[in-house]
Amino acid sequence: MNRRFYITTPIYYVNDVPHIGHTYTTVVADVIARFHRMGGREVFFLTGTDEHGQHVERAAQAKGLKPIELADRMVERFRGLWRTFGISNNDFIRTTEERHRRGVEKLYQKIVAKGDIYKDAYKGWYCTSCESFFPEKQIVDGRCPDQGHKVEWTEEESYFFRLSRYQEPLLKHYAEHPDFVFPESRRNEVVSFVESGLRDLSISRSSFSWGIPLPGDPRHVFYVWFDALSNYITALGSGSDRKLYARFWPADMHLVGKDILRFHAVYWPAFLMSAGEPLPRRVVAHGWWLRDALKISKSRGGTVDPIPLVEAFGVDAVRYFLMRDMVFGLDSSYSDEAFIDRVNSDLANDLGNLISRTLKMIEDYCGGKIPKADPRFREDEPLKGAARDAWSAFGTDFENLDFSGGIGRVWDFVGMLNRFIVQNEPWKLAQDPGRRWAVESVLYAAAEGLRIVGILIAPVMPRAAAELWRRLGVHGDVSAASLEHFSWGELKPGRTIERGDALFPRIDKAAYLKGAESAKPPAGPPPSAPATAGAPAAPAGAAPPQAAAREAGAPPEIAIDEFARIDLRTARIISAERVQGADKLIRMTVDIGAETRTIVAGIATRYTPESLVGKTIVVVANLKPAKLRGVLSQGMLLAASDASGQPYILTTEEAVPPGWKVK
Ligand code: MSP
Repeated sequence: MNRRFYITTPIYYVNDVPHIGHTYTTVVADVIARFHRMGGREVFFLTGTDEHGQHVERAAQAKGLKPIELADRMVERFRGLWRTFGISNNDFIRTTEERHRRGVEKLYQKIVAKGDIYKDAYKGWYCTSCESFFPEKQIVDGRCPDQGHKVEWTEEESYFFRLSRYQEPLLKHYAEHPDFVFPESRRNEVVSFVESGLRDLSISRSSFSWGIPLPGDPRHVFYVWFDALSNYITALGSGSDRKLYARFWPADMHLVGKDILRFHAVYWPAFLMSAGEPLPRRVVAHGWWLRDALKISKSRGGTVDPIPLVEAFGVDAVRYFLMRDMVFGLDSSYSDEAFIDRVNSDLANDLGNLISRTLKMIEDYCGGKIPKADPRFREDEPLKGAARDAWSAFGTDFENLDFSGGIGRVWDFVGMLNRFIVQNEPWKLAQDPGRRWAVESVLYAAAEGLRIVGILIAPVMPRAAAELWRRLGVHGDVSAASLEHFSWGELKPGRTIERGDALFPRIDKAAYLKGAESAKPPAGPPPSAPATAGAPAAPAGAAPPQAAAREAGAPPEIAIDEFARIDLRTARIISAERVQGADKLIRMTVDIGAETRTIVAGIATRYTPESLVGKTIVVVANLKPAKLRGVLSQGMLLAASDASGQPYILTTEEAVPPGWKVK
């Protein structure tokens, strides 16, 4: 087996903020990357942003910004979202980076040297949203065939790539590599598309300038898809030292939505063939998240923002839902009801209850320590076999990209553990002192089963898995667990467990759907904190104030370790807006280093949202979250206030990165 694994997501356009569709692709890629890392492979996982092109230029103009200014802002949204989602990418490429430009030029020069580029005039229909040309016969009512966007008649001088030359080589490649495009239904579509004839492809534009200039003719910029597709090699240093390129190219998997399969399965391999570079091993296309039967997308009106879902239910619940509710390759409909039903039934009920009851009984009957299994106890035998079967079926399903099926195998095992507890009735056994060994054996088996469940859920829910291991007293990093950790009996008796709160609290569906204030506390670790108005928190000095020097009515003196319990961090404000219906409140998205948070603060009497963006502030990062006017606030910013209560926020004197500890 190839020990290395290179996986990519599409690079996302920066003309708009990320939604659940983009999140889905990135989460799937992350799950695959984590799964392969656990299988012992050296993984390189790439994502990034696609920043050039006419529609980015227009989106920037509409906002009165330069394209690079818009890109700089949007990139932070993507980066922040991926941090929030625990995405484990090894690199993040922006197509406006120098390393990318060098690589694009180099690829182009190889194609020129092959004689595959010529200059001509382009006349035809162009869809700016898809950044794609379409032949006349495919245009219906002035709209593109792919997504129904308006097309524009375009006439300009252009450089062309001799795509037509690659029709036969591509067909030969598909025939010789039946796995090249997955799933098979999509492969058949690609083959028919190529069989129906390939026309040469315009790969430069001269009617606008936001792109990489063509070497030799800077009046032209590269067609954005030529520019974008190259990211998969330029990020590996194809334009410079090529060390990573030699190590990881060809990619094992380009993961894409079905909307952009043609670019990846036809154009990209043709460019690479022309340049004499190896082709990626697989192009894998997933389906769309739909809402009311339409693709979720900005241009179609309906998007689903992942951030409020994360704020209300936690990252792992969202990751779980995305992986479990879409049969990979097919379309799936999103609704809040479906989301809540899935989370309540699988996470709160099945797994959550198993965890709570097991830990509670270990606390009640075993003094809070992992008990020992007694050799006289035989009823756990079927569990041992089932754990092995769950692992192998899960592994096969994940290898075959059947994530929903693979997760189903784990849940079959969870169901079996729940039944095992019910059948063995440890609460009854506990009443008979002579059967103590049996109680301990039942609870050992349940806890050991949970330890294995922790490994199996780690690719999909890395934080919950880590928290589960921690509560079971297991040492080590569950995301680094591998095959050998599966053997039954690894769990160490005698370790102290921690019962904790419900790992996956039940969501009150009716309340949530009504938009009630406190539908549910946020799920999963780590707890994040609320904000109030800019009320000042603890004094920022290193030493506690001397009692004698304190004003009357001031809070009581505290010890330094009490102060140390407050997690103060620097944070950068990424965006800010007024909370509707509340005069004083501003809702901010802040980067606190490891993640982005939403913070609501009562500072609108002195600050406008615009004046806050870019500022570095100090936040209390471990305050219990609270809802303010329906918005969950996960932290509190520090501010001084004058006698009338006007806030003066604390910023840092020098430029300090987000996430630094303040003490
Ligand atoms: N920039 C190009 C890709 C260049 S790759 C060399 C692009 N960007 S995009 O921002 O429009 O993102 C497209 C990708 O986002 C899709 O291919 C898909 O992976 C994902 N999705 C966007 N909307 C989606 C849904 N509604 N459902 C599922 N995934 C979707 O195209």
